[in-house]
Amino acid sequence: MTVAPPLKAVPQVHVYTDKATLVAAATDQVIELIRDAIATRGRCSIALSGGSTPKPLYQDLAQTDLDWQQLYIYWGDERYVPATHADSNAKMTYEAWLNHVAIPAENIFTVPTDTASPQASAEQYQQALATSFDTADTPVFDIILLGMGDDGHTASLFPHTAALNETERWVTVGQKADQPRITLTTRVINQARHVMFLVAGANKQTALSQVFAPTADSATYPARLINPAGNLSWLLDTDASIGLPADVERMVH
Ligand code: 6PG
Repeated sequence: MTVAPPLKAVPQVHVYTDKATLVAAATDQVIELIRDAIATRGRCSIALSGGSTPKPLYQDLAQTDLDWQQLYIYWGDERYVPATHADSNAKMTYEAWLNHVAIPAENIFTVPTDTASPQASAEQYQQALATSFDTADTPVFDIILLGMGDDGHTASLFPHTAALNETERWVTVGQKADQPRITLTTRVINQARHVMFLVAGANKQTALSQVFAPTADSATYPARLINPAGNLSWLLDTDASIGLPADVERMVH
């Protein structure tokens, strides 16, 4: 008997005039989600995205007063480079946000990249998740921030790579051409209480049209694999949103 695929979360699609208004809205929504999680469960676990889009969001959060003791920071993916490397997502996040707020160091879980191999990094990060979430079951993040590349990748789940088919591990090795990465798998991402995509720019139109198309190949457009148990929101700017199929419901701000 074929098991019906899980019902896709109905995405909440928000369209903003430009990237600046998208980021301002994302800041407000992330702050609300963090405060709700802490109020409800006494803590908030958030997995951050890399790339350029979220950097101004992190800079906004550096000006925000949050219950830092109850906030736990992770990364959805990381490049396999030293923490001091210009390409490091953690380096970008520390410089934009974490160096400027009173969050305890023990609340920040960077992906270890000073290891013998990307595989060793993935294994160590998976162990760190198991310990910090104190679970043998798939960890449930309160919030996972994601971007989307113009090829339809998200986190470090790149088209036609082995990482897309990893259904058991929580953390695996992603591959961007010749650059190894460490990434959460869809198994973890799709357990999150809230997944928020931040996508801006005309260069994302084609990938977005395929991600929202009724039928398209998820191996070619991996962002189609994101189907969380909880809420799924897409925050787009007008330029990126032009790629949306006409029948996709959206809130224009
Ligand atoms: C990374 C990100 C990656 C990013 C997309 C979009 O490590 O680079 O996790 O998935 O979100 O490539 O990047 P931009 O926001 O720079 O367009």
